[in-house]
Amino acid sequence: MWDPSHSFCKTSMSSLTNKRILLGVTGGIAAYKSAELIRRLQDRGADVRVVMTRAATEFITPLTLQALSGHPVHQDLLNAETESVMGHIELARWADLILIAPASANFIARLAQGHGDDLLTTLCLASESPIAVAPAMNQAMWANEATQENVAALASKHVRIFGPDEGLQACGEVGAGRLLDVDGIVLLTEKVFPSHLLDGKKVVITAGPTREAIDPVRYISNNSSGKQGYALAEAAIEAGAQVVLISGPTGLPAPDRSRRVDVVSADEMFDAVMKEVGDADIFIGVAAVADYKPVHREEQKIKKGDAPSNQVLRIDLIENPDIISGVGHLAGRPYTVGFAAETQNVVEYARKKLTKKNLDMVVANDVSDTSIGFNSDDNRITVLWADREVELPKLSKRNVATRIIELIAQGLREAGRS
Ligand code: C5P
Repeated sequence: MWDPSHSFCKTSMSSLTNKRILLGVTGGIAAYKSAELIRRLQDRGADVRVVMTRAATEFITPLTLQALSGHPVHQDLLNAETESVMGHIELARWADLILIAPASANFIARLAQGHGDDLLTTLCLASESPIAVAPAMNQAMWANEATQENVAALASKHVRIFGPDEGLQACGEVGAGRLLDVDGIVLLTEKVFPSHLLDGKKVVITAGPTREAIDPVRYISNNSSGKQGYALAEAAIEAGAQVVLISGPTGLPAPDRSRRVDVVSADEMFDAVMKEVGDADIFIGVAAVADYKPVHREEQKIKKGDAPSNQVLRIDLIENPDIISGVGHLAGRPYTVGFAAETQNVVEYARKKLTKKNLDMVVANDVSDTSIGFNSDDNRITVLWADREVELPKLSKRNVATRIIELIAQGLREAGRS
């Protein structure tokens, strides 16, 4: 049963639940971030064991990583003590994934060459599980032809490359080579293990703004970027769903393996949704649909001087159809999820929406905070159902999307509709 007091992050629905991750830590200043990475992987349900190279121990102590992982840290190939706990071949077999973060240029070179002269490279050679590396190094080292060739060689052997990021580096230089942020590494790690949470489900998602024409060249619209809706489409695809993305105008590319239906106005979006939703299992209305549209669309461009003599040009507006409410009130409706972007009393207004639009779940966020919401890359949300609610920490929109999909899958299951 759902326990609202349970920390959301410790949800049992992640694709990392019970996955055994061997975290390899190599020598670089970013090694300190592995401490946080262990915690975040554990939050997602993973069992983490740590292997450190000798150089890594110069940057962070094995004791720290042992305390965090709850297991002895393996360092040497031929250490009688750790070998007696779990031998290196056993450890290689134990891992569902070997994740090396941070991966130094030296380690990447040795892995690409197939070396087996220390514990971590030997484990990589001995394991038949997927391997992922998250490079972290000075930008010139990353750009170096030798490193690039090594990375390409690893990629051709199906080693996953997570990052690196660009930006200010510990050495003061700016460029590509920074370790990907911990959130990003966790997200890519989850992608290694498809969750199958929505296998075979048809999911219809609306995203982006709508445009309501005033004349042939002008329209009323809003600042919606479509990022959250597109991120949800990707997360649903990764969970095994068949996704139809009904999108207003955005500059975003259609996610692979989705079917996108492009629309402009709210009326067009309404029609497209009604056409698709009949056999859908889930409907997610993320679009920022314009509430009003001009009563008349002028045939010709409105010109300066077209205003009547009192100089006031009036555009009369009428309400658009409420798409999600239309879906919510359909007989035999899909599991229906709405969004509530509010600037005050966020949860209270969201709960009203849940009832009024007859939804199963509402995702609420506070758009008065400019570090989240419209056009930003991050979001902090509260998810509401008729009988409970849960608040999530601030996360990237991509991460938020994965969490929402997990909660939808859980909601479906509890409603006996999965
Ligand atoms: O009422 P409000 O516009 O704040 O509700 C937001 C939710 O309703 C979002 O999920 C949005 O996609 C949906 N909506 C809709 N059709 C409208 C207005 C909003 O589907 N005309």
